[in-house]
Amino acid sequence: MEQCAAILLARGKPCKNLKEAAENYRFLLDYGQIFGNDNPVELEVGCGNGGFVLEKAGREPQTNFLAVELCTNVILTAMERVMAANLPNVRFLNIPAEILACYIPEHSVRKIYLNFSTPLPEKSREKQRLTSPRFLEIYKTLLKNGGVIEQKTDSAEFFDYSLSQYRAAGFAVGEITRDLHNSEYAQANIVTEYEANFTSQGKPICRCIAVLEQP
Ligand SMILES: C[S@@+](CC[C@H](N)C(=O)[O-])C[C@H]1O[C@@H](n2cnc3c(N)ncnc32)[C@H](O)[C@@H]1O
Repeated sequence: MEQCAAILLARGKPCKNLKEAAENYRFLLDYGQIFGNDNPVELEVGCGNGGFVLEKAGREPQTNFLAVELCTNVILTAMERVMAANLPNVRFLNIPAEILACYIPEHSVRKIYLNFSTPLPEKSREKQRLTSPRFLEIYKTLLKNGGVIEQKTDSAEFFDYSLSQYRAAGFAVGEITRDLHNSEYAQANIVTEYEANFTSQGKPICRCIAVLEQP
């Protein structure tokens, strides 16, 4: 991945893989410095064009949001939208989620949002799914005790896979719905760009939360 290569070369010492990079390089964020307060921090992984974080940060000014996105051109759109809205409680990280631990202090995040992560049904790509065991281990190091992952997807197969992975990794799973827009969670829901698209195709949306009881 280009972003990782840039980071590793900038530090002068190439690493064999992302795990080694995350273990050896730490550019841990100082939340007080970047947000100017000590409000709780929530993380969106794969923010796309930023529609979710834009709306969420406007609704919750007492929460700080970090929005992570791999694609530079996509995150630029998100950044421009947030800047135009003049929201002080959002910052962006243009990195792959694989190296989140380089930037995010351990057990410092209250909630992680996974909105319409790519399902990647091919068995050979399981490791890249954002709810695969290696990502859940990363999230466990980032989340506070009692921290929560909130996931939405249009893919029933990916949803089933994710539920089993959460349980296997020691999360307590709840608030499960396979038809979000006709559920008790619909009113508070923020419709993302991908969600609007899937809904217009008549696809029901799956949603759950996974709670980390002991990080
Ligand atoms: C299907 S889109 C969903 C975008 C947005 N969350 C929404 O619901 O409209 C998935 C996004 O996740 C990003 N993504 C995929 N894998 C990632 C990774 N390992 N780290 C960071 N972002 C990733 C992609 O670049 C893409 O923008």
